[in-house]
Amino acid sequence: MSYETILVEKKGAVTLITLNRPKSLNALNSTVLAEMIEAFAAYEADASQLCAVVTGSGDKAFAAGADIKEMSDKPSAEFYSQDFFADWTAKVVKSTRKPWIAAVNGFALGGGCELAMMADFIIASENAKFGQPEIKLGVAPGMGGSQRLARAVGKSKAMDMCLTGRMMDAAEAERAGLVSQIVAPEALLEVAMKSAEAIASMPPLASMMNKEMVNMAFETTLETGLILERRMFQVLTATEDKAEGMAAFVEKRAGNWKGR
Ligand code: HXC
Repeated sequence: MSYETILVEKKGAVTLITLNRPKSLNALNSTVLAEMIEAFAAYEADASQLCAVVTGSGDKAFAAGADIKEMSDKPSAEFYSQDFFADWTAKVVKSTRKPWIAAVNGFALGGGCELAMMADFIIASENAKFGQPEIKLGVAPGMGGSQRLARAVGKSKAMDMCLTGRMMDAAEAERAGLVSQIVAPEALLEVAMKSAEAIASMPPLASMMNKEMVNMAFETTLETGLILERRMFQVLTATEDKAEGMAAFVEKRAGNWKGR
């Protein structure tokens, strides 16, 4: 499958998706969304692929936001009637049960920051800059920025970012818990791919359930979350990969996973 606005490469068990509109700093237009939906569906459906990495082409940006030029003349009624941006959560985030990482190089602004926050975690280059500058355009985040940023960094910093539109550099983003680690720009892809390969080497069902469990922490009470966690843990004890994992530990060898 060839795409117009993204590049998709399978590297062993890892799918690498590169946003590829460098002239507009990888701005997210409707073609990008349609192609991301297809690429994520293909990743999810391919049993040989066990982790994905999303990054931006060029050295300047992960993505500088939703495409302002595409949105500027769009009638307001269409934003509502088309439920504009809803498919990012419905058809990228919710339909992807396998893990994926955002490798953020340069600007991750507006929808770019929001896309990075849709990932299971973010690895940032030292030159990464995060922001929700929509207020400067007379609007507000529309792809999850106010909600996911508040959950990631807390109310004070999320309010600061959304109300002032200022950018956060990589060091501040790491201190705030938005990103899991910072690496040199030239090492970003290598580190992200190594991390993805480590995830891809884990038992696949346990990988999906670990992801589901952590996400539950943002959706439910502690009491219910703890019950769900125990039930998922208990379900995993019935898998062949649990027997293999424990045998492999005792026999001091790597596990040979079956995904069942
Ligand atoms: C469309 C964009 C773009 C965007 C950059 N470009 N961001 N095109 N949508 N979001 C284009 C520019 O128009 C320009 O193309 C080219 O990319 C390079 O950008 P420059 O501005 O010349 O680069 P620079 O001076 O280095 O500034 C970089 C920047 C700036 C600070 C990132 O581009 C910027 O502020 N971009 C907008 C960031 C933003 O507001 N994002 C939020 C979008 S709204 P040309 O051809 O003109 O040279 C959003 C959700 C909205 O995400 C939800 C409400 C409905």
